[in-house]
Amino acid sequence: MKVAVFSSHSHDEVYLSAANEGAGHELVFIEARLGLSTAKLAEGFDAICAFVNDNLDAGVLEALHAVGIGHVALRSAGFNHVDLETAARLGFVIARVPAYSPHAVAEHSVAMMLALNRQIHKSYNRVRDGNLALDGLLGFDLFERTVGIIGTGKIGERVASIMSGFGCRILAHDPHPNPVCVDLGVEYLDLPSLFAGSDIVTLHTPLTPATHHLINSESIALMKKGVMIINTSRGALVDTVAVIDALKSGKIGYLGLDVYEEEADLFFEDLSDRIITDDVFSRLLTFPNVIITGHQGFFTREAITAIAETTIENLRAFESGELSGNEIDLGQR
Ligand code: NAI
Repeated sequence: MKVAVFSSHSHDEVYLSAANEGAGHELVFIEARLGLSTAKLAEGFDAICAFVNDNLDAGVLEALHAVGIGHVALRSAGFNHVDLETAARLGFVIARVPAYSPHAVAEHSVAMMLALNRQIHKSYNRVRDGNLALDGLLGFDLFERTVGIIGTGKIGERVASIMSGFGCRILAHDPHPNPVCVDLGVEYLDLPSLFAGSDIVTLHTPLTPATHHLINSESIALMKKGVMIINTSRGALVDTVAVIDALKSGKIGYLGLDVYEEEADLFFEDLSDRIITDDVFSRLLTFPNVIITGHQGFFTREAITAIAETTIENLRAFESGELSGNEIDLGQR
């Protein structure tokens, strides 16, 4: 298949090309993000390959359809950036990478918890500056602290397992309790009880209408003073303005974000020589108790190898008219 790979970075080229050896697809790597103005670049291709911040809304899907594209291989698990109704109406086949390395994202979430708690981001800079004072670096033992996990699928389950190893009590909320977590001793609760009981709240649900702004001023009000919130899932799970208010009042004591509601215009680019015009994002960067990473939770060798291999398998299935099992179910729409 001749495939236009949007939002390509050097690692996409290296890992997809390696996975494609022997598969024989013609992969054309396009740095541009997929959007209304770039959809026409797909003309003459058999399929496109897209990442998390590519835009697959109704207008873009119509534009892709108009140039003959009917197959989309997502290099992500999440598909909240796809207009499913339009995709179904236009007869698209859209495949994703449902699981690549839950360890990668879970371990990044825990890295954020540890860095925030032990203020590694501050001590790294201080020590390089010859300042070895401990003032302001006081942390807390994770042992016997309570971690609230919202969403105990593949990633949430790994977080539960790792945090159990620290000796934490684990609370969870998920409409489908995970038997592995139940065996670990995880206690499933309603959301208000989880918010009230947790020292750390960590988000591992997909972004859906039900989870949009799950963290908002009302839910924050239920939490313990000084709570730590970690979001490595999708930016819009968190109402950023509400979180900034709570950071200012001290209600939120620590915030770790790998995703941000308006990340599409910021993340995956080197903006170091530009002015960031997103004032909400800029405000977040001013807090000493906030760590932001640029959607790098998935970014381990193991995960991107698996993403590349599954993507090539999805393209093979497209080409042969078979199902890989990774297709998004558009049937009911
Ligand atoms: P999964 O599908 O295995 O698990 C999601 C869990 O969330 C399921 O158990 C589901 O029942 C639960 N859930 C759904 N609605 C819920 C609700 N309203 N309240 C509580 N729980 C709810 O997904 P997985 O692989 O664990 O990924 C979770 C999310 O992580 C993805 O949707 C994606 O947004 C994000 N992600 C982030 C990455 C990064 O690089 N930062 C990389 C990969 C995924």
